[in-house]
Amino acid sequence: MEKNILDKLSCPACSAAGRQRGRLFETPPDGSGNRGDLRCEKCGTEFMQGGGIIDFVGDASSPRIFSSQWSMEFPPIIALYEHIWRPAVTRPFSDLSWEIDTSLRLMDLAPEHDVLDIACGPGNFTRLFAGKLGRGSVIGIDLSLPMLKRGIAEIERIKNRRITLMRVDVTKWVFAPKSFDRVHCAGALHLFPSLPSVFRSIYDSLRPGGIFIGATYLKAAGRTKRLFQNYISSAHGFHWFEPEELQGLVSGAGFTGWEQYVKKQGVVFRAKK
Ligand SMILES: C[S@@+](CC[C@H](N)C(=O)[O-])C[C@H]1O[C@@H](n2cnc3c(N)ncnc32)[C@H](O)[C@@H]1O
Ligand SMILES: [Zn+2]
Repeated sequence: MEKNILDKLSCPACSAAGRQRGRLFETPPDGSGNRGDLRCEKCGTEFMQGGGIIDFVGDASSPRIFSSQWSMEFPPIIALYEHIWRPAVTRPFSDLSWEIDTSLRLMDLAPEHDVLDIACGPGNFTRLFAGKLGRGSVIGIDLSLPMLKRGIAEIERIKNRRITLMRVDVTKWVFAPKSFDRVHCAGALHLFPSLPSVFRSIYDSLRPGGIFIGATYLKAAGRTKRLFQNYISSAHGFHWFEPEELQGLVSGAGFTGWEQYVKKQGVVFRAKK
């Protein structure tokens, strides 16, 4: 693994034990051509690296059937996700092309930028960002291993060497302070627990002057759509944001320079460290 990527990581096991986080290093390859795993220099915890994906989650309990996370790990949905599922489920509340165009504009990428794409799914945004980079890098993280495997297949198809995919639960942060110029998260903030601590982690891992770009959904004003949203919340655990709520969370984490753009219930925002 490139040193530039290793330098951005710090051990989540040390952090969970209340210790200062150790740095990670790559163990030697196993002789069969596979890359070595990652090991913490302080606590010795190992994180597996297989199929091009570093796994910081390991064995996790299966998601509840028909829950949002279950659908994000269900092979038929993953096969249709990028071109059919994502545009279709977005349409009642927003417009995916608008989300993509707005995010790309707000990212304001330069070739040397280092980017983190949180909840990258199959890497649909991650690949767009990578296409704008020169010597910079982009790391995509997601909880769903099947999504990431799909992402690896897509990366191999486009042969872009600037992308690294990792399996990370965003609530168990693995990144060192001041590691990125841009952090992006689309289609997932409404799914995360503990948003104040996630936003603080993002703030810490941005370099000074770095930018956080998020895309998610607001509560509808109309009664019929609100009933539909309430159903989705109870069935799939979605959180629809109040108009001022995101700005409060972002400024609570220390960000300034709030900007937001809204289309139907879709919101894309940017804030600066
Ligand atoms: C709707 S997809 C978004 C994918 C892509 N960013 C997009 O906008 O199309 C939501 C993703 O969030 C991921 N996710 C949900 N909870 C997560 C968590 N705690 N940590 C990391 N990823 C998570 C899911 O696995 C899923 O791939
Ligand atoms: Zn450790």
